[in-house]
Amino acid sequence: MRKQYRAEGLAENELAATPVEQFARWFERAVTEGGVFEPNAMIVSTADAEGRPSSRTVLLKHFDEQGFVFYTNYDSRKARELAQNPYVSLLFPWHPMARQVIVTGVARRTGRDETAAYFRTRPHGSQLGAWASAQSSVITGRAELDAAYAGLAARYPEGEQVPVPPHWGGFRVAPRSVEFWQGRENRLHDRLRYVAEPDGSWRVERLAP
Ligand SMILES: Cc1cc2nc3c(=O)[nH]c(=O)nc-3n(C[C@H](O)[C@H](O)[C@H](O)COP(=O)(O)O)c2cc1C
Repeated sequence: MRKQYRAEGLAENELAATPVEQFARWFERAVTEGGVFEPNAMIVSTADAEGRPSSRTVLLKHFDEQGFVFYTNYDSRKARELAQNPYVSLLFPWHPMARQVIVTGVARRTGRDETAAYFRTRPHGSQLGAWASAQSSVITGRAELDAAYAGLAARYPEGEQVPVPPHWGGFRVAPRSVEFWQGRENRLHDRLRYVAEPDGSWRVERLAP
């Protein structure tokens, strides 16, 4: 299990001006040559009002200077926690590249138009799935889920437009800090973190590994 990382390093002078630009560079590498299965899969950690944490994997669907966007059920545990406490952490575990990116920030719901535009791009079956599942609630068994799906499939056959569920939509995480971690030899890894300044600029600091 103890692997020596021999990957290239990460130096201050090669960083992009903003963390989103730097993320775009690493994400491109992860997609094209990183050997990473589902590079847009990230661990989203939230905490409730008492500070009790919870984590789960979610897919990143969009990112730009405004933030990192994912879609989910607004009645789910994560969404209920975000309603109480909007602070969130996103972690991209790009193990084959000995890389990790950790974003911390504040999550806000995406607008209904943006959510609807994305929902329309999803396959018909996934659109029905968003209606069929009361995500994070306890159910009686698999049959309940399958019956809900079958009912919806009968009501909205393939080709028919499925309305956007009111309980479903996006969150946009506006970054406050973004750490780029690059594995190096002898556990002397590179860790460079962008931190948002009050005037909107970014400070870069190096952390001990
Ligand atoms: C690879 C992978 C991708 C996933 N993508 C999503 C996603 O984009 N949105 C989502 O709501 N759940 C996604 N899930 C399911 C979540 O991990 C989780 O089970 C679900 O969102 C309920 O989480 P919660 O009860 O903590 O709110 C994904 C799971 C895996 C393993």
